[in-house]
Amino acid sequence: MTQEWWRDAVVYQVYVRSFADSDGDGIGDLPGVRSRLPYLADLGVDAIWLNPFYASPMADGGYDVADYRAVDPMFGSLEDAAGLIHDAHANGLRVIVDIVPNHSSDQHAWFRKGLRDRYIFRPGRGADGELPPNDWESVFGGPAWTRTPDGDWYLHLFAPEQPDLNWENPDVHAEFLDILRFWLDLGADGFRIDVAHGMVKAPGLPDVGHPNQNELLGEEPLPYFDQDGVHEIYRTWRMVLDEYPGDRMAVAEAWAPNAERTALYVRPDELHQAFNFHFLKAKWSASSFRTAIEEMLATKAPATWVLSNHDVHRHVTRYGDGEVGTRRARAAALLLLALPGSAYVYQGEELGLPEVLDLPDELLQDPVWERSGHTDRGRDGCRVPLPWASAGPSLGFSSGAGWLPQPEDWAKLSVAEQQTEPESMFSLYRAVLRLRRMLSFGEFEWLDLPEDVLGFRRGTFHCVVNLGTEPVRLTDAGRVLVASADHGVDDGVVTLPPDTAIWWS
Ligand code: NOJ
Ligand code: MG
Repeated sequence: MTQEWWRDAVVYQVYVRSFADSDGDGIGDLPGVRSRLPYLADLGVDAIWLNPFYASPMADGGYDVADYRAVDPMFGSLEDAAGLIHDAHANGLRVIVDIVPNHSSDQHAWFRKGLRDRYIFRPGRGADGELPPNDWESVFGGPAWTRTPDGDWYLHLFAPEQPDLNWENPDVHAEFLDILRFWLDLGADGFRIDVAHGMVKAPGLPDVGHPNQNELLGEEPLPYFDQDGVHEIYRTWRMVLDEYPGDRMAVAEAWAPNAERTALYVRPDELHQAFNFHFLKAKWSASSFRTAIEEMLATKAPATWVLSNHDVHRHVTRYGDGEVGTRRARAAALLLLALPGSAYVYQGEELGLPEVLDLPDELLQDPVWERSGHTDRGRDGCRVPLPWASAGPSLGFSSGAGWLPQPEDWAKLSVAEQQTEPESMFSLYRAVLRLRRMLSFGEFEWLDLPEDVLGFRRGTFHCVVNLGTEPVRLTDAGRVLVASADHGVDDGVVTLPPDTAIWWS
């Protein structure tokens, strides 16, 4: 039996709004993605994950879904979605769609019709119910409750336009099983499950007893995240996925406090993958990465590695300023793609795009900007449209201007510039993805190296990353397959400079 495709798949995350615009309105769309499939096939990824493209008032970039079975006209039509899935398959690419089950839009038919038993409504505290039912905070800042004109409050772990669904109601379960089938019937190969750790809340909705709950996300247990009850939902979803041929899968966005809790989402009768956010949050140090990797591998569960996505600062910028960040990101790419399991690549990562930190205030669209009282600029800086060409009003993203402006110096980071440059980030990703497909990997084993050098073997395959400040001599390096930067080779001894990674076998 050949192993399931998702186990070692490299999945490319497409933030549809910022990927490619086909109709000149400055907003990326499904026909735009469709037209660029050959680019993705050539890059060498196995699948794409599309961020939400459903009918939505866009209070949170489409994570506020008004109709789970319709495509927002901004992104195209249902026909475009079917055509995209069809063409992706023809290009050898699987398609993962984003499903948003923790909350809907306040413009969803259920909320508009006032079907309160499908959401989480509670009376307030205080003499006149003027205080929220408990102390829960929205992930976007401020209280997680909004009061309705009749005096009751409804829960929204995110924006007020994103009321949390009530997963104690069987109607909610039935509706989502039907939505899964809708997209599976259309040919989707899998789902990325938004806030997969959020649907079940602790009984009685107890207070957290801690201000700035954002600091606890993914670190400490919280009454509204990672409750054991969510796993029952996934056991049912798994049965639906298994009814379909072709290894349909699901990946959880679950910010669990540790690797053991993350691994629970990928038990054999539950989901297939769960992002390893502890790896994403690792600092640029060997011990930080080593801990994240070790803890995940110790669970023996399928591992899913990721460095960037549409919610965090791009890792080029997280790892350092200017050249340093780029150099480290090149090394990180070799680490990401050498680990056992699956890896996700966020669009533009293969171009080495940095976070855009200086977008004009008036253009910011992330609700975080408003809800934080203009203290947190939010996530628009990693959502700037891709530069495809070295000239043109939005560097080939659209025939006109894009919905966010690109920094002037992005022309040199464009696909067109990088494709013909053998030393570019794009060429590195492309080469490494090709190698990854050709190599065979054995058992994972750490190498015995100086403290700030990270290295492991998988059979004869070796990956070493120097995260320290001094060059390191590797005396037993075999045949070098690829390196992220120049390094010395002398008589079988490799000298690996700081912030450099190497593969050999
Ligand atoms: C996680 C998504 O990745 C993020 O973009 C969104 O704002 C929240 N979930 C709420 O849906
Ligand atoms: Mg468009």
